[in-house]
Amino acid sequence: MPTNSLTVTDNRTGKSYEIPVDECGTIKAMDLRQIKTAPDDFGLMTYDPAFMNTAACRSAITFIDGDRGILEYRGYPIEEIAEHGTFLEVAYLLNEGELPNAAQLHKWTDDIRYHTYVHTNIIKFLEGFRYDAHPMGMLLSTVGALSTFYPDARHVHDPENRYIQRVRLMAKLPTIAAFCFRHNRGLPYEFPRNDLEYIGNFVNMTFSIGGKHEPNPVLQRALEILLILHADHEQNCSTSAVRAVGSSAVDVFSAVSAGIAALYGPLHGGANEAVLRMLDEIGSRDRIPGFIEKVKKGEGRLMGFGHRVYKSYDPRAKLIKKVAYDVFAETGMNPKLEIALELERIALQDDYFISRKLYPNVDFYSGLIYQAMGYPTDYFTVLFALGRLPGWLAQWSEMIQDKEQKIARPRQVYVGPERRPYVAIAERP
Ligand code: SDX
Repeated sequence: MPTNSLTVTDNRTGKSYEIPVDECGTIKAMDLRQIKTAPDDFGLMTYDPAFMNTAACRSAITFIDGDRGILEYRGYPIEEIAEHGTFLEVAYLLNEGELPNAAQLHKWTDDIRYHTYVHTNIIKFLEGFRYDAHPMGMLLSTVGALSTFYPDARHVHDPENRYIQRVRLMAKLPTIAAFCFRHNRGLPYEFPRNDLEYIGNFVNMTFSIGGKHEPNPVLQRALEILLILHADHEQNCSTSAVRAVGSSAVDVFSAVSAGIAALYGPLHGGANEAVLRMLDEIGSRDRIPGFIEKVKKGEGRLMGFGHRVYKSYDPRAKLIKKVAYDVFAETGMNPKLEIALELERIALQDDYFISRKLYPNVDFYSGLIYQAMGYPTDYFTVLFALGRLPGWLAQWSEMIQDKEQKIARPRQVYVGPERRPYVAIAERP
């Protein structure tokens, strides 16, 4: 009867070792350290740049099956959540583990509504940025600065404290994001309104002029669905950054600031902005074949395509494509959609992309919708951050409570110079 273990023979010594395989099909990397060639040998390590095949944690928040294109938040399929859920309901589900009942949702919503204002010094802080500062640079700096306004946030092991800090960030990130939007436009800030619900309040703070903004319910629901689709995605780059920085027991504002910094990158959340720039560069359908040939020669990437986990169509991209049609019915067709659809059609028939299992990801269509809603290209990743915030908070809280976790401190393989004596400057070549 096979046991749940590996029998590893070290051919350097002829010794064999039993390495347990746990119920999740993983082995503990530390179990390899016993494999030595001599008593003073450090023992075996795994080498896994970019963590292609390394689980850094156990998590109960999000499940992804990359081959079958499945995404579930706490077991609920993303398709059903996006169709029936509200963003605050999903934020509660990710953070508390269950869909809220009416009383729980009322309290969660009320607690958040109560904390939407930021200290007026934050406004002075924002005034320090150039008018054309990238809003992601402003967002990550300002969220980090929040830690100086709430020093009590350092009590990360106090559950009550963790709750209030997460409420503060859920409440204040839309306010700060809207203030960044207004700063770029040289418009006076529109302050939060407690008579508006979460998404409507954010839209009003970005677009209202003179306190007036006629909301479009179709566009507001479309934005809410987009935020829901971005809410969590297991151990992506920015979530891993939040977990790693948070593992030092720093406050959640500083940890989320690190997540925003990671999301800023064009290979991650910055891809939605890069897709629009790519579509602008292509310019027209007839230039698509030439662009595709350049990508296949390695002269650039098809932004919004490919994924480390999804080796099939990203389920979120399918849902976003549907939302796009609802939005364009309200705003008029975005001419770039035609280029995006043709780009997708050609790529999905081309062996370069098929053989590398490159399909549209969450970023391929989202930017087209944000643009149609009136957001500028460099603001798209801010909208991604607004959506991802509940996931970062849930993953941070899960990490803090995980008894198996310690401060993140990977090992390395040293490939530098051998030990050598110091050389006085006069003797250096
Ligand atoms: C997000 O992790 C997450 O969950 C992220 C995210 C989330 O919700 O948090 O889903 C959000 O970040 C989505 C990804 C957005 N990024 C982009 O759209 C940028 C373009 N995509 C790529 O740069 C790339 O596909 C990544 C970064 C997404 C994934 O890269 P991997 O897994 O490290 O793959 P790789 O770079 O090793 O590429 C494997 C091969 C290479 O070709 P070869 O060297 O084997 O010849 O595929 C090629 C790559 O050149 N390739 C692409 C490509 N992506 C990979 N070629 C052209 N265009 C692309 N987009």
